[in-house]
Amino acid sequence: MKDRIQVIQGDITRQICDAIVNAANTSLLGGGGVDGAIHRAAGPDLLAECRTLYGCETGKAKITKGYRLPARYVIHTPGPIWHGGDRNESALLASCYRSCLELAEANGCQTVCFPSISTGVYHFPLNQAAGIAIETIAAFLASHAAPAQVTMVCFDSRTKAAYDQALAALTRP
Ligand code: APR
Repeated sequence: MKDRIQVIQGDITRQICDAIVNAANTSLLGGGGVDGAIHRAAGPDLLAECRTLYGCETGKAKITKGYRLPARYVIHTPGPIWHGGDRNESALLASCYRSCLELAEANGCQTVCFPSISTGVYHFPLNQAAGIAIETIAAFLASHAAPAQVTMVCFDSRTKAAYDQALAALTRP
């Protein structure tokens, strides 16, 4: 399992993979953070396609083309906003990762890149989010042949350290 999950530090808009995941909001009409970066890099056609989707529920995912991005597809998923942990945030975050992987598999994606969903503007505690992400990805890959490779693309060293730690913990019995 470990060899199908990798953690890197970088900019998700520059990744050459079949699909990159966007940490969107429920409107799917763009925003700041990684959402803003993806829309800037993809160009205006991405927003035009997003307008035809009429939003997306938290924890669910919708797929569009990648336009000017090197990635073929963008999979948009609104993560949960952290309200202290008693509003089903953990289950909703796990659902984001699972929904995106299901869409990736259904669209024949072999390589998928994720940002650290909800740990920016949505304030989900980083170490907890990293554990949920890695465990959910590993569970999906254990029962699916595709995607072959999942990459966590961390924007800063603090985020990368959290996902490295979560991945290391995964390989312990
Ligand atoms: N590549 C990879 N990761 C990035 C990039 C990038 N180019 N830019 C930002 N990030 C990282 C952030 O550093 C953070 O670790 O993405 C992670 C998620 O942070 P946000 O983008 O703030 O996303 P989130 O916390 O899920 O909040 C979503 O923010 O931008 C709005 O429209 C978006 O309303 C939605 C909310």
